Parts: sequence; structure tokens; C-alpha cells
Amino acid sequence: MQLDTSTLPLTAHSADLIAVGRRPDGSFTAELGVLEAPLTAALAQAKHRGDVAELSLWPTLGLVSAAQVAIVGVGDASPDALRRAAGAIGHAARGAGADAVALALGALDDVSEVAVLEGFNAGKYRYNEHLSGPQTAEPSRLTLVSDPALELAGALPFAQAIDAGQSLARDLVNAPAAVIFPESLAAVAMGLVAEGIEVEVWDEQKIRAEGMGGITAVGQGSSRPPRFIHMTYRPAGAPRKKLGIIGKGVTFDAGGLSIKTADGMMTMRCDMAGSAAVIGVMKAIAALKPDVEVHGIIGAAENMLGGDAYKLGDVLRMHNGKTVEIHNTDAEGRLVLGDCLSYASALGLDAMVDIATLTGACVVALGDLYSALFSHDNSVADGILASAQQSGELVWRMPLEVAYKERLKTDFADLKNVGGPPGGSITAALFLSEFVGSTPWAHLDIAGPAFFAKKTRHFVSGGTGCMVPTLTRWILA
Ligand code: BES
Ligand code: MN
Ligand code: ZN
Repeated sequence: MQLDTSTLPLTAHSADLIAVGRRPDGSFTAELGVLEAPLTAALAQAKHRGDVAELSLWPTLGLVSAAQVAIVGVGDASPDALRRAAGAIGHAARGAGADAVALALGALDDVSEVAVLEGFNAGKYRYNEHLSGPQTAEPSRLTLVSDPALELAGALPFAQAIDAGQSLARDLVNAPAAVIFPESLAAVAMGLVAEGIEVEVWDEQKIRAEGMGGITAVGQGSSRPPRFIHMTYRPAGAPRKKLGIIGKGVTFDAGGLSIKTADGMMTMRCDMAGSAAVIGVMKAIAALKPDVEVHGIIGAAENMLGGDAYKLGDVLRMHNGKTVEIHNTDAEGRLVLGDCLSYASALGLDAMVDIATLTGACVVALGDLYSALFSHDNSVADGILASAQQSGELVWRMPLEVAYKERLKTDFADLKNVGGPPGGSITAALFLSEFVGSTPWAHLDIAGPAFFAKKTRHFVSGGTGCMVPTLTRWILA
């Protein structure tokens, strides 16, 4: 998409769609000339209140050269409100098949510019891979209209990198499990070599030989063998710090022998959303080239019920030597991640964050808009929360209550893999904490926001690419 700025009046633009913001007091964020009177009347009729991202689309009836005008509520015009408003415009523009869009949301500083571009990009996203018939193309041109002129130089590369990473993550989540399985996911990671990322992939023999009993067990019930993926971004000079992001890549979660219900399985291709976010962030980082060394680590496996499937009562030896008794094969993400965290803890990282669609309990606690954050390290936790706030992503810190470790005890191994229903997202996080060694660490449970069953805010149903904006900002900070 081509991006430019203009100081011409919005109504002078020969775009397919012109869009303007509306404040709660009814005023517009740009001069509307001949459209002002008819639109004001129409909006009163339509009871448009100017709530954040409230959208109203009108034909211009030949009054101006653009065919349609969109009015969007901007609320308090904070970066977050503008992100959501621009998201609604992006969504509407794609829906209307608008090729050129001119958008006037008022004077924008660097931060709001990024927010507007981020929102527009996320809103225009569609996953049409498997649809027959003609589809709307994404807009090929966006003009940001404002007098005085906007300066895009700072915002543009950052917003573009986020978009490329987040859209890739969304595509990977949306793709069926027949398309994205451990080997093909590893091939996507390998594709980042062309963008300057080092990528190492281990096959199932190497995974076993390296002592990764968790990934091995989870993957052994599937005819699609598991993969371990280690991506590295190295800056040109000496790195300011070394960070790790670790993603759960369960490309389909049938639950294993502790099989899920048909309903519970329906969207379980999304169980690799953590790994999709890691790949998306690595792509963004490859473009942004920060002076930070970044390790992206993924455990990829399919949790199935084949004849070799791991069983209840099995005892696994994990990468750090700890043994785990299996009480539920559907609690597989923590086994895959345990091996990855143990591996990452030997890299001498200054901090690491894992990201996973880990527990249904998390969705019960926080709903589908919030990710849960668990950490014993306030500086890592505060860093993530600050980056999330700047990204407009909702993250809530949860207690990593060590008293609940009791619930992971068994007579037959060092740990069992489930701690019972109460506080299920907390005991899952505590399980992970057994594998991080002394590296400062945080865990993000994205079981809610990784995948929307229906359109939510400006995100169409399906994968959201959540935490790509947050983790990219966290790395750059
Ligand atoms: N992948 C699921 C968690 C999940 C649920 C993600 C809903 C997204 C939406 C995970 O592997 C799982 O099955 N967790 C179990 C754990 C339980 C057996 C302790 C769960 O949440 O029920
Ligand atoms: Mn599961
Ligand atoms: Zn799972």
C-alpha cells in the first residue's frame, strides 16, 4: 500500500473513499465544505454519537469527486481511540472495495500517526485464501490529510514492520492445520533467512536426542513429526541486550487421548498462535534492525491420538532433567514450552517472554479481549505492560502464587502436568516457571485474544496476530 500525506481539503481528494473523524461534541476533525450540512443532518437522523470507532458510511451523491464518505467517532482522540477509529475505516474501506482512501483525523503527532497506521492496517486485513469468486483487494493507497502537513518519516517504517509481522501471524493462525503443521511452520521460519535472520530447525530425532521429552511426547501421536525452531537476529554492532521470545506451536490440539469435544476442537488450529506471534515479531525485527540480539524459539508439534500417542501415567524426562507425570494429555502446551524455556535459559538472555494459547481457564478469567501476564520479575512485567499500553493491546497481570505449586505434586515424578481446575492458568504458569532457570522471565497466556470467533473491534473473525505489536515494542524499548 502506498502512503502519502496531503494538505488539500479532504473534499478535494479524488479517492474512492474519504473519511473524517467526529468528536463527541459533534464537530468534525476536518473541514467538510459542501458535505458539512447534509452530513450533519444525516448523522443526526442516524443517531451517530461519535463514540470511539462508531462508523457511518454515506454516498456523496456527486457533491464531491469521492464516491463515499465515512464518518468515524474519535472519542478523546487519544492514540488508542485513533487506532480503533482508523481500524474501523480500514475495515470499511476493504469491505467497500475502496482502492484509494483519504483520511483526515486531525493533527497527529508521531505516536498517533503510528497508531492510525496500525489501526488502518489491522482493519483492512482479510484472510481470503480459500474463498472462490471475486474478493475485494486491499486499498492500494492511503492519504493522510492534515493542514499543517504531517511528517510520516518516523512513523511509516515502524507501522509497516508491525503490519508485515502481524499480518503474517494472522495468516499463519488462519491457515488450516492441513497447511500449517510443524514441518511447514518450520519452512515459514526458514523463509526469514532471506531477511537476515539465522534459522536452525531440529527434526524429531534431534529433538529426542537433545532430551526434549515434552516436545517428543506431544508430537508422537501424530503422523506429522514435531520440529524445534530457533531463529536469531543479530545486530551489526555489539548488542545492547539479549532477549528471547518463546512460542507455543501446537499446530492442532485435538487434546490427545484426553480428547477434546468436537466444539472444543473446532478452532484448535489457533493453538500455534504463540509461535505465529514469534515469527511475526522476528519478521518485524528483521526490518527494524534494533541494536538488540533477539532469539525466537518455537516448539512445534501436533497433539493427536495416533497409535504412538503419549498416555496418561506416562512419565517424561524434560530438557532440564525434571520428570513429569501425565495426568491429562490436553495439557500439552506446557510440556512443549517447558523444553523450549529450558533450552532458552542456557542462552545467557537478559530476559525472555513466552507466549502461548495455554489455558481455557485464562479465557474464563479474562474473556477474549485480554491476555494474561505472569512474572516474578517486576521489571520484565512492567516493560511488557508499558509496551502493551502503547500498542492498544489489553494485558492483565495475574498472580504467580507459589503456594499453588502444591497442586503440581505427585508421588511418581518431580511434577504432574495439571494442577486441577481452580486457578488453572496460574498452575500452568507455575509449571512453566520450573523450566526457566535464573533467566528473568514472563509468560503471556493469549488463549482469549489469539483468535476471535466473530468480528471484534476492527479485527475480522479468526487470527489476530495479538502481541506482535507489544513484543516488538518491548524489544525496541
Ligand atoms: N490449547 C488449549 C487451551 C485453549 C483453550 C486455547 C481454548 C484457546 C482456547 C490447551 O492446550 C488446553 O487444552 N488446556 C487445557 C488444560 C487442562 C487440561 C488442564 C484446558 O484449558 O482445558
Ligand atoms: Mn490442549
Ligand atoms: Zn493446546
